[in-house]
Amino acid sequence: ESGVITIDPGFKNTGSTQSAITFLDGEKGILRYRGYSIEELAEKSTFLEVSYLLIYGELPTPDQYQEFTKTITNHTLVHEDIKKILEGFPSTAHPMGVLSSLVCAQTAFYPASLDPNRAAPEVDMSIIRLLAKMPTFAAWSFKNQIGHPVNYPDNSLDYCSNFLKMMFATPAEAYEVDPVVANALDKLLILHADHEQNCSTSTVRMVGSSHASLYASISGGINALWGPLHGGANQAVIEMLENIKKDGGDTKKWMAKAKDKNDPFRLMGFGHRVYKNFDPRARIIKKAADDVLAKLGVNDPILEIAKGLEEEALNDSYFVERKLYPNVDFYSGIIYRALGIPTDMFTVMFAMGRLPGWIAQWKEMRENKEPIGRPRQVYTGYNERAYAPIDKR
Ligand code: SDX
Repeated sequence: ESGVITIDPGFKNTGSTQSAITFLDGEKGILRYRGYSIEELAEKSTFLEVSYLLIYGELPTPDQYQEFTKTITNHTLVHEDIKKILEGFPSTAHPMGVLSSLVCAQTAFYPASLDPNRAAPEVDMSIIRLLAKMPTFAAWSFKNQIGHPVNYPDNSLDYCSNFLKMMFATPAEAYEVDPVVANALDKLLILHADHEQNCSTSTVRMVGSSHASLYASISGGINALWGPLHGGANQAVIEMLENIKKDGGDTKKWMAKAKDKNDPFRLMGFGHRVYKNFDPRARIIKKAADDVLAKLGVNDPILEIAKGLEEEALNDSYFVERKLYPNVDFYSGIIYRALGIPTDMFTVMFAMGRLPGWIAQWKEMRENKEPIGRPRQVYTGYNERAYAPIDKR
């Protein structure tokens, strides 16, 4: 009706679009990418194959997959001017801030506003370039933070192995990628690849709705993901578990803090806007954490603290009533840590995983010719009043 405006803070009951990419059932804990279950994809697919599926809608044929992965490999190098931008950042810069800047800086090299309805190669090349360069940007944001020289991509390696080598190799010694680590990382990226209209994806769609470039839209998504209520939670979970460990592992005390309305502390990694049952990704990651730590011979005491916290929360009426379960961020940090990924890089890993989903959603929004996002408001400020000169105030 004209004139009636309903306010829906956080859009808890507002649908922003129609999408054929990802299906969630929050009650049943179901997650599917283009109809394929997350359980099957995590078990049988690869991150680049899932990226192709999300962006182009179908699993690739062998030729399509070969072409896709080869083209990505051939675009991992970034313009040397990007390195100059990187060198401008202090080592105190958080990798997420560096990453969103480098991604946005790509607009300096490519068409500002890409119209998917124009020649396909233009859009496809932008997508390829972004998928190809993200690991390079991510690894370089880490090298900047620790004051080490960057590593150039090694096109003889697969996607995750190349990233790990750029992250951890130093000129001082040889570096061999551990396939267990590369495989675990590939699975984690699959689990983060898309999640319908979450905060960062809605941001990518909003920025893209003004016909800003794919790079500028993704840069917006990276910044939205950074918040501790969203992708930043995986870093906040580890910091919380470390605090509990320092505090003698007293999980009961921290549970009480999480339930105390006067205490701003929340149990990070718990709760979800859509999942009112188990987050299916949390189940898979929890099992993977046991497998990967065992394979790597890592015994991390905070894994036991995390399991203890989960056990208590699942039997605590406050959490049960509010249907608060572990979400994707609760166990992921424990695996990242076992893989040698530093805590400040956890949300960067989330961004690397979510990239194909953001791209797919941006492409769908543009192909569907969706209008620029521009919500209304209910005004609650002053009625009209006359200007008072400063000597009369
Ligand atoms: C991600 O949307 C997506 O799909 C996101 C994501 C993706 O893949 O893109 O799944 C990734 O962001 C996962 C969520 C990571 N964030 C955290 O783990 C941070 C901790 N969780 C919460 O801040 C919270 O649960 C949210 C942000 C995830 C969801 O918030 P909502 O839906 O706005 O729920 P709410 O804040 O209104 O909470 C409902 C009730 C409140 O209590 P009451 O006011 O009803 O008494 O539950 C309480 C909250 O106080 N509550 C918690 C809690 N989460 C919610 N209490 C203690 N600890 C928590 N973690």
